[in-house]
Amino acid sequence: MLKLETLISEEELQKRVKELGEQITKDYENQEIIVLCILKGGVMFMTDLVKHIKIPMKMEFMVVSSYGDEYKSSGVVKILKDLDEPIEGKHILIVEDIIDSGRTLRYIKNILKERAPESIKICTLLDKAEQREANVDVEYAGFTIGDEFVIGYGLDYRQYYRNIPYIAVNRG
Ligand code: IMP
Ligand code: MG
Repeated sequence: MLKLETLISEEELQKRVKELGEQITKDYENQEIIVLCILKGGVMFMTDLVKHIKIPMKMEFMVVSSYGDEYKSSGVVKILKDLDEPIEGKHILIVEDIIDSGRTLRYIKNILKERAPESIKICTLLDKAEQREANVDVEYAGFTIGDEFVIGYGLDYRQYYRNIPYIAVNRG
């Protein structure tokens, strides 16, 4: 078992998610977007975020498996479930739980770019900015955190702990 310590509380999360939703609403004024959730990690963030997005939008989901160990992604990404619709000419907002090296998102972004969307932006809840290896633009980030393994609010350790309503670190 892990010994959990709160890094970002439920209240802080909800406040920031609301701010992001309001910012997105402003930035895409008079436009329609596809909010693309990367499962499974992005699910809690996405469902809370869209409640604060007040423009026409559709939800899409992608399931990817990124090879690596339980702490690090390798950047070798396999698409297990793709979007249901073509995205040509659409505005895509990718919603992810966390960006670490950036390899996973760079890979996904490159695949989607080939489908000729009008725009692709990234919205991540957590950003381990110092860890970035792959060059990838992040338009919206909830919180910048250090190089610590975090869980909760969608983020897992060996598939567990996604249901915790706050972000925690292991101090075991
Ligand atoms: P990247 O490809 O290195 O940017 O890694 C991104 C992916 O690694 C995320 O979608 C997570 O699945 C996983 N990941 C990275 N850091 C953490 C963490 O602290 N907790 C849980 N998963 C993480
Ligand atoms: Mg993930």
